Amino acid sequence: MNILEKLYCRVFQFGFKLAIPILPYRNPNILNQVDQIPKLLKEKDLCSVLLVTDPSIRGLGLTKHLEEILKKNGIKTAVYDKVQPNPTVSTVEEARQLYLQQDCKALIGFGGGSSMDTAKAVGALIARPNSTLEDLGGILRVWLRTPYTIAIPTTAGTGSETTVAAVILDDESGHKYALMDFPLIPDVAVLDPETTRTLPPRITAGTGMDTLAHAVEAYIGNSTTKLTRREALRAVRLVFKYLERAVKNGNDMKARRGMLRASYLGGCAFTVSYVGYAHAVSHSLSGQYNLPHGETTAILLPYVLEAYGTSIYPQLKALAIAAGVAHMDTEEALAAQSFIRAVWELNRKIGIGTRIPGIKKEDITKMARMAAKEGNPVYPVPVLMDAKALERFYYDVYEEGGTRS
Ligand SMILES: NC(=O)c1ccc[n+]([C@@H]2O[C@H](COP(=O)([O-])OP(=O)(O)OC[C@H]3O[C@@H](n4cnc5c(N)ncnc54)[C@H](O)[C@@H]3O)[C@@H](O)[C@H]2O)c1
Ligand SMILES: [Fe+2]
Repeated sequence: MNILEKLYCRVFQFGFKLAIPILPYRNPNILNQVDQIPKLLKEKDLCSVLLVTDPSIRGLGLTKHLEEILKKNGIKTAVYDKVQPNPTVSTVEEARQLYLQQDCKALIGFGGGSSMDTAKAVGALIARPNSTLEDLGGILRVWLRTPYTIAIPTTAGTGSETTVAAVILDDESGHKYALMDFPLIPDVAVLDPETTRTLPPRITAGTGMDTLAHAVEAYIGNSTTKLTRREALRAVRLVFKYLERAVKNGNDMKARRGMLRASYLGGCAFTVSYVGYAHAVSHSLSGQYNLPHGETTAILLPYVLEAYGTSIYPQLKALAIAAGVAHMDTEEALAAQSFIRAVWELNRKIGIGTRIPGIKKEDITKMARMAAKEGNPVYPVPVLMDAKALERFYYDVYEEGGTRS
């Protein structure tokens, strides 16, 4: 990246960092169970909702109790249950049509990041009926109040229940992008670890490492605050304590609770302090090949940390202490390297590999351009890279002749 581009990125990021205290960040109101939802909706005179979820979650019966209590309390509920991983523009459009046809007044996103983001994106289109999702992509483009939104995460996770973001895939171009604006922060989040009990080990592993990537990328970036550093470190501590346990025994509810908390804290940290190139590269790959976001990001994270080199050693030392793999008196370089090793090791223990099968070399230039477009100038990464420099990560995870399992 040339010096002028670097300067532009850093000035842009510094401007946003200075603005943090005056920007309207807020946290959702937290509920522990869905049982409190009908009363809350009635208090707000919201008697008609769109419940947005995916077929597996509804098929597993996770939404059943909520649907029943909404009905019992006279709240008209339309259900959109066709969300797929990496939700698309057409999915959001279909859900929006249902919202309008059924004259809904509020949204409930029940599921992983895909269902919550679909609900949030429907909210953006309701607030801005004359815009397309593409128009609203990027930073601070929604502006207007979205319908009252309740997020119920069933993965731990994306942290979408507390973030400004909704990540959507353009099904025609394969471009995955984020809408990022304050009205997209849900009004309410229901944090009930029971909703994550049925999460299979592989998805528990990938989504849990996504949480780690949020906390780590937020922590090593240049736009941290005292609060986001604390949230990120707490999330890292919880992931290293509980993720392996949650993967190995899905019924370990202490571990599930710890991971749901970590996911929320990771979301709180990165919604203010942003993510970095592990996410930008991951979005381009999951958009191109429809890969699971968490697992893809998990594989990329240690490569990206290594590429930043010694510039992030002080932050990595703090992360190593939080992860329990170094002490205050451990030499900085040693502690930093221990943290990266600990990320590799955690990936290995929970069954996440080191390569992403199925990448086509001829797609790399295009994907790296998309990643650079997403990352620069918005993400306050410790070391700036342009599209050419980002290409290395696709080759790092490239697997000759590999096909996806
Ligand atoms: N908005 C944000 O701040 C944010 C942050 C990170 C990622 N994302 C986006 O979120 C999406 C990924 O979300 P995700 O990783 O939570 O996964 P997901 O919502 O795509 O779900 C993955 C799979 O897990 C299944 N699943 C979810 N909960 C389950 C449960 N309790 N039991 C059994 N199966 C369950 C789903 O049916 C699905 O098949 C991506 O599009 C990603 O880009 C958004
Ligand atoms: Fe993520």
